[in-house]
Amino acid sequence: MSKLWEGRDSGIIDEFAEQLNSSIGVDKRLYKEDISGSVAHAEMLAKQGIISEEDKKVLVGALNSVLCDIENGTLQIDETSEDIHTFIEGVLTERVGATGKKLHTARSRNDQVALDLRLFVKKEIIEIIGLLKNLVLVITDKAEESKEAVCPGYTHLQRAQPITFGQHLLAYVFMFIRDIERLKDAYKRVDVSPIGSCALAGTTYDTDRFFEAEKLGFSTVCLNSIDGVSDRDFCVEYISALALVQTHLSRFAEELVLWSSWEFKFVELSPKFTTGSSIMPQKKNPDIAELTRGKTGRVYGDLVSILTILKGLPLAYNKDMQEDKEAVFDAGDTVKLCLKAFIPMVGTMKPLKDNMKKAAQKGFINATDLADYLVKKGEPFRNAYKICGEIVGDCIKSGKILEMLTLSEYKKYSDMFENDLYQAIDLNNCVNKRASFGGTAPSSVEKQILFVKEYIAKFDIL
Ligand code: ARG
Repeated sequence: MSKLWEGRDSGIIDEFAEQLNSSIGVDKRLYKEDISGSVAHAEMLAKQGIISEEDKKVLVGALNSVLCDIENGTLQIDETSEDIHTFIEGVLTERVGATGKKLHTARSRNDQVALDLRLFVKKEIIEIIGLLKNLVLVITDKAEESKEAVCPGYTHLQRAQPITFGQHLLAYVFMFIRDIERLKDAYKRVDVSPIGSCALAGTTYDTDRFFEAEKLGFSTVCLNSIDGVSDRDFCVEYISALALVQTHLSRFAEELVLWSSWEFKFVELSPKFTTGSSIMPQKKNPDIAELTRGKTGRVYGDLVSILTILKGLPLAYNKDMQEDKEAVFDAGDTVKLCLKAFIPMVGTMKPLKDNMKKAAQKGFINATDLADYLVKKGEPFRNAYKICGEIVGDCIKSGKILEMLTLSEYKKYSDMFENDLYQAIDLNNCVNKRASFGGTAPSSVEKQILFVKEYIAKFDIL
């Protein structure tokens, strides 16, 4: 296909230079955005008297038919075109002749591509926020089911204190709510129209950038034409918000891998989200969780890639920026696919509450409660801590747990111990008593669930 920029030179470049220069294999995904941008541009040009009403009708009609034909498969995107903008303008001109050549008045591919990408990212953010909302709902349901299920809470992956499984799950809910808020915030800065910046300096035509922006659903327009064509901060913000979504998914995935192992057995994953081994018949592998964890590397790569592309670019447009799309597309595709598999995986996972409880009964996770018991009886915390440390040490030697020692055995360590100590170290009591704001007690978990439900009820995507 001939080049849009043929004129000064013939448009014929070296074969490998051509391959390197071409972006249609990637940016063909922007055909819809490119066409809606062009329709709005034609309307603006006619409103301002830059082209005639008649030309506008011809252009808009032809652009809509190009869109239809691409969607129904009668028009194949020709990958020998330089990029999607060249292809669409080429087809338009083939179909309507000289009128097609008027469309590019008062615009450049530089503001056109910035516009297309912003339209695309806006759509993606809305879709991803919707998926995150579903994820929040699914995890909150699981948390509600297990708001009273006692399990070990860990620090350093060592059993630390008893918690409720619901409390643990809700920690992820709050991470994903922050992700939603971050994407909503990033959206505000994507929602700015660059069209009309032209190549870099604006134009001599009497354009109406606000009219065109409004037609395309933007809240406002960029204030500086050079910034308009060279700003890709919105890509960085978008991918960085996605990198954090993926970080959270990956941490959750890691726990699912651990929890579904024989060593933990805290959850059973549905066979729809696990695979078998080709050699070991007993295997049920948590591949989907593992891949979610593994795919995180790609999204981080996309973030580093976009940052590196931009670093050191002089103003305004530089061809390096053509590389922005692969990072934007890949990050969005990866996060969306992971979310679409992750949501039903969490929705169908079965918490194995008895196993959690059994694990909580080992490992002396009520030792802090035993020390607190002595503190409440008047022992300073440091002394109480030391006494309980000795008790735990002796229990380990004799293969016992705290619940097994008799009162007279306890008395040997401190005469402050009375029969009510057993109440104090009972695991259910241990969690029920941690009712401080945001704590692990079922009463506190309920309050958190209420907060999430209100957040969802008031939910407005933007
Ligand atoms: N394919 C190009 C890109 O994605 C479109 C803009 C081309 N502009 C130019 N001055 N060559 O960035």
